[in-house]
Amino acid sequence: MLASELELPEILDGTFDQRFARRMALDPDQWIVRNMFGYAVMHYEDATAILRDKRWHSAVSRIPELMGITNRQFLERQQVSILSAEDDTHLRLRRLVAPAFSPRAADRLRPFMRDVMSGLIDRVAGAGRADFTTDICEPYPIPIICELLGAPKKDWQLFSRWAGDILEIFSADVVDKIDLIIRTQDELGEYTRALIAERRSKPADDLLTDLIAAEEAGDKLSNDELVMMVNAVIVGGTDTTRNQLGCAVSLFANHPHQWALLAERPELAPRAVEESMRYFGAVRGTARFASCDIEYRDVLFPAGTFIAVGLAEANRDLAVFSEPEEFDITSEPSGQPQVTFGSGIHYCLGAALARAELQEALPLLARRMPELAIDGDITWKPEGVGIFGPAHMPITFAAGH
Ligand code: HEM
Repeated sequence: MLASELELPEILDGTFDQRFARRMALDPDQWIVRNMFGYAVMHYEDATAILRDKRWHSAVSRIPELMGITNRQFLERQQVSILSAEDDTHLRLRRLVAPAFSPRAADRLRPFMRDVMSGLIDRVAGAGRADFTTDICEPYPIPIICELLGAPKKDWQLFSRWAGDILEIFSADVVDKIDLIIRTQDELGEYTRALIAERRSKPADDLLTDLIAAEEAGDKLSNDELVMMVNAVIVGGTDTTRNQLGCAVSLFANHPHQWALLAERPELAPRAVEESMRYFGAVRGTARFASCDIEYRDVLFPAGTFIAVGLAEANRDLAVFSEPEEFDITSEPSGQPQVTFGSGIHYCLGAALARAELQEALPLLARRMPELAIDGDITWKPEGVGIFGPAHMPITFAAGH
């Protein structure tokens, strides 16, 4: 049967929370609904099946078009990003860069991550209050990305501005920001080219050196591809991590026993990260479009059909997680992973790095911010494309730790 002929519940409007609640209240047999772009799947099995089927292509490449961007220069650049590339182009890039993003490579940065987080906590520890988002989440990932790339401390501010400007790509008024984004991409490109030239003559212990050296069967990344990778690391690796940290800590503030437990038993950090990403992921969904006619569950989705993949809903699927509505960092892990990092060929390239960042941050925060409580109201970010989290989160905690 053609997808358009299916009789489906329509979940078209409302905030994410309202749509989430309506989807979670559906009959468990209801595996697909209609949404504003096409369709949405919410069950773990369907979400992962679609993300693992290479005929469904990443909709990242279509976001500019959907947002009404017509600027040629910008659209052409988008095509070569690892975030949106498909088929052989994607496979080749992924093979070349994957070793540089291994857990071992991320582990090199753990002491640095602890230093950055300790420095941020030091600034507010005496007062016993902070805006967790602006004081802790916002500044955390930039130094780490700079250290990862091998950019010196004097350039942290520069990267922070570049990241902010480039991330405007996810804003609702992206059409008005396109010149700024192109200008920033150019500045970053120029900077990266100079850094590449430096590393070619003087290799160091960093990601850029690893990417320059990456080689498979005589194939190497070109300078343009190296610049694109740095861009992808900034787009993929800053706002995601800071929002995930904000989401996780907002969750712990509502579960004080779990926070105290993490302070007492820092070895629970890996479980704390997986469980908070399952229960409250900062990336709540992604999207695909059919690159050709696709038949799935006896339904024909014609080429071009958009499908939203509900990662947040999949993470609460009773068929996979035994008590999905419970947040418990001591629970036995399910046989299947949480899907806030996605699944399939576009599975988050920075997952090891993000895990390390959160695993280092959370126990340190739990130890140094005992009696954590939300002080007033959390202001949540507007729901744009993809990434969600607190814009302001006033907190109090016991001072002096
Ligand atoms: C908690 C933090 C993070 C979350 C929740 C997250 C989530 C995701 C998700 C869901 C995807 C797949 C999107 C899709 O399939 O449509 C993805 C891809 C990606 N992520 Fe992350 N990410 C995080 C951190 C990072 C970091 C730290 C980096 C870089 C150092 C990074 C770099 C990337 C890249 C380059 C891709 C594209 C991979 C590809 O298309 O092959 N991410 N991420």
